[in-house]
This record gives sequence, C-alpha cells and structure tokens, in this order.
Amino acid sequence: MKILFATPECAPYVKTGGLGDVSGALPAALAALGHDVRVLLPAYRGMRVSGAVGDTVDIAASGSWPAAQLLPVQLESGVTMLLLACPGLYQREGGPYVDANGADYHDNVLRFGVLSRVAAMLGGPASPLADWRADVVHGNDWPCGLAPLYLAQARVTGSRTAASVTTIHNMAFQGVVPMDNADLLGIPALWRGIEGVEFWGQLSMLKAGLQYADAITTVSPTYAREIQTPEFGCGLDGVLRARADRLTGILNGIDTHAWNPAHDPLLLHAYTPGDFAGKAKNKAALQKQLGLKVDPRAMLFGIVSRLTPQKGVDLVLQHLDTILAEGAQLAVLGSGEAGLQHALSEAAAKRRGQMHVTLGFNEQLAHRIEAGVDCFLMPSRFEPCGLNQMYSQAYGTPPLVANTGGLADSVLDATQDEQQGTGFVMRTQDPSGFADALQRARAAFREPARWRRIADNGMRRRFGWEDSARKYLEVYGAAIARAGC
Ligand code: ADP
Ligand code: GLC
Repeated sequence: MKILFATPECAPYVKTGGLGDVSGALPAALAALGHDVRVLLPAYRGMRVSGAVGDTVDIAASGSWPAAQLLPVQLESGVTMLLLACPGLYQREGGPYVDANGADYHDNVLRFGVLSRVAAMLGGPASPLADWRADVVHGNDWPCGLAPLYLAQARVTGSRTAASVTTIHNMAFQGVVPMDNADLLGIPALWRGIEGVEFWGQLSMLKAGLQYADAITTVSPTYAREIQTPEFGCGLDGVLRARADRLTGILNGIDTHAWNPAHDPLLLHAYTPGDFAGKAKNKAALQKQLGLKVDPRAMLFGIVSRLTPQKGVDLVLQHLDTILAEGAQLAVLGSGEAGLQHALSEAAAKRRGQMHVTLGFNEQLAHRIEAGVDCFLMPSRFEPCGLNQMYSQAYGTPPLVANTGGLADSVLDATQDEQQGTGFVMRTQDPSGFADALQRARAAFREPARWRRIADNGMRRRFGWEDSARKYLEVYGAAIARAGC
C-alpha cells in the first residue's frame, strides 16, 4: 500500500509533544510491515534530516497558494521523508505553531492550508511526484484537517483519489479561524455550512477532517468513546456521534529504540528488567544533578509534561505537601502556561533539596527523569493517549494516572490486580481521587518486593508499534473500500 502520512511535527527533527513521537515511529512501523510510506513534513528552520537526498520537485504557485518544493530524503527506516519547502511560511524563529514569544503565527491558516493541500495533491490526479500517488492520505490533527476536504473536492469533479484518514490526537486543538479565510483556502461555498466546516460561525480545520475523511481514528479506544460525549467532545461530539461508524480508537505504541533503558544513550546507566541496582544508580545521579538530597530511600516522584490544565498539574500543586510527606521528593520538567510555570517554580524555591523544577524542553532530562524517579505522576483531566505513562512502565517507573483516555487503556492498577498491576489508577478525577492513589502508591513503595514486582511487570510489557500499525492498516483498507477509488 502507498501511504502518505502528513504531519506538522516529527521526532527527532521537530517535536512539541506526543504527535512528534507518533510521527517518528508509526510510519517506520508501517514500512517495516512492507508498505511504501512517505511522510510529508514542513521544512522548518534549522531542521537536520540525514539520508539519501532525491531530486527536488517543484509545485507551482496557483491563485493564493505560494510556490513550494518537495525535497525527498530516504531515511534508514525505509520511510521517505518529503520535506515541504516554502521558506516564506516555514523558515522562522520559533516552533512549528508559535513564534519565539509563544504567540500563534498570524498565518497558520495558510501555513497548514498549504500542508493539507500538498498532502491531498499527493493522493490526487495531479500528484507532483511523477511516479507516485498515495492510496491513502493519513492526516494528523487540525493542521492536516483540510486534506480530506480537498480530496473530496477532487472526487466531485470525477477524479480518482486516495482514501483519506484523519487522526485526532487532541480534540482541544481545532484550528478554528474566521470564516472569511474560506476563499483563501478554496473551500466550496456549499461546504461552508454546519454540514461542512462551520463551527459557531467560524471555520474549523479539524471539523473539515472529521466531515470529509473516509475514516477517523483517535489514539486510544477509551478516548474514542469519550469524545462522543459533551464532556470530552469540545463541541464536536455531535459530529463524531454522527460518524461513529467510521471512528476507531487505536492505542499509540512507543518507539522501543528511542525509549529503551537497556540502550538509551541519554542515560548514564543502562539497565534491564530485574536490574534494580542499575535503576538505583540513575536515581542517585538524578538526585545529584537536580540538587535533591541523594537518598535511595526517599520516594522520588517525577513529571515531564506540557504545563496546561489538561495535565492536572494544578492537582499536583494542591497536594504538594502530601506528595512530599515522609521525606519524599519531586522532579518536574515542563513548559507551557506562565501561571503554572510560576507556581511550580515558587513552590520549588520554598522546598530546596526536596523539589526541583526545570522549565523548558529538554529531551535528555526527560529520559533521565523517566529512568531516575520511582513513580511518575500523570493525573490528566483528559488524555487522548499519553506516552509518558508508557515510557514510565518501560523504564520500571510505576505511573500514577487518571482514569481517562489512553491512561485507562495502558496502565493496569496494582491495587486491583496484585499480580499483574503496573501502576496506580485514580478512582475519581478529583483531589480526593488523587490523594487516594498517592496513598496507595506510597503504601506499595514501603514494601520493596511488591514495588519491584509492579515495576518489573511494567518493564516486561510490550508497548511497541507493530500491533497498532496493523490496526491502522485495517482502517486504511476500510477507508479505501469506503472511498471506492
Ligand atoms: P502530549 O502530546 O499531550 O504533550 P504525550 O504524553 O503524548 O503528551 O507526549 C508528550 C511527549 O513530549 C513525550 O515524549 C514527553 O517526553 C515529551 N515532553 C513533554 N514535555 C517535555 C519537556 N518539557 N521536555 C522534554 N520532553 C517533553
Ligand atoms: C496529543 C495528546 C496525547 C497523545 C499525543 C499523541 O498531544 O494530548 O495524549 O499521546 O497527542 O497521540
């Protein structure tokens, strides 16, 4: 199957969160199953992609669309990276979505309109690649939401096109812009209403994906159910209920090369299941690095997170004294909302030696926290999938998680299942639910043999991508059948 995977971020080249990890790993897993996979990614400033470089392909300017180029790079994994070069749109200071001051780029609608349009072209009658047209165009999140609409538009004019798949990684981000962008984006007048892209008078790029895709997926089975309810649907639950027949939840995997404590180059000490001495060395090194008291008996909690209300960091702040009771410690790495950054830094300043906060994005420290802490905290309000709870389990670090989305689908509660449990699941999503799970985790930590069993259970679980990649192939097959092209 010829698969075009379109994405605004892809690890290790450009990453702001889990979508980057997924884009780095799922295409490679599909290629390993024998498929021809190409990843379409904007060529942002300063990105280094190594591999055999192919001939550049020009895409001519047309109407409001600027000229662009595709730069093919053959990766070691077998995946072909198609870097979408359009310097006026992508060569900027700052991240993929926001400028150096954290403000959304004013022209994101055009930046990701172009990404979606080129993705659709690669699955349409006028593919810019002379010898290649995708069978499936798989777009991710709102930045690729318009790709299914453009493919549907090509079909209306009688063209055979690729089938389209939209994956929702987070309903909280929808790419909602004023409707007067519809002309710029070339959205047909008839598709600008409530049955099309309209969302409370505005234009929703995510809704375009949901309305026009041949198949919709999201990143865990529980989140697939949750987003069909008003509580989690962020205003699009009705659209999702109406299209429930084509919505599938597929749990993300993890990249078991990048996230494997047995050979993780970012760690100081490698370790394998059962090697608790190896893990203890990482804990001591982390305590030292962060200026925490080096004490093997102190229960060390960790957090690596975007700092937003989604992640339940406020629950952690509210319960700091309970977390840090009995000489326990907390290491936080995160970046995001100014209020949360400030509150965490202030709290740490008052608890030197016991709590440390690192603000910013730091891949190496993320790995060292996963390896070095005893227990990872992830009390998210909602969590489409979540990767850190899986990294934690793989690193022998039982996670404490909320009972929602992918957290519920990937952590087995050790109170409920004494033998197989891998972590601690909150029974209710409120402060008392967090305190209760904390108390259960602390009680288990006091029994070293029990704690080791829980940690070891996590390390021995398989979180690789292969099973999930096979499920995506089934969805692609169903989408192709539905598209009838
Ligand atoms: P989300 O995508 O909602 O942020 P996930 O758990 O799916 O949550 O993925 C987050 C990814 O981003 C993980 O790989 C995590 O290690 C990484 N990450 C988040 N914050 C930071 C940070 N401050 N520094 C380094 N890595 C981070
Ligand atoms: C989003 C979600 C996260 C998920 C990630 C990758 O950022 O917030 O839960 O793991 O996408 O699918």
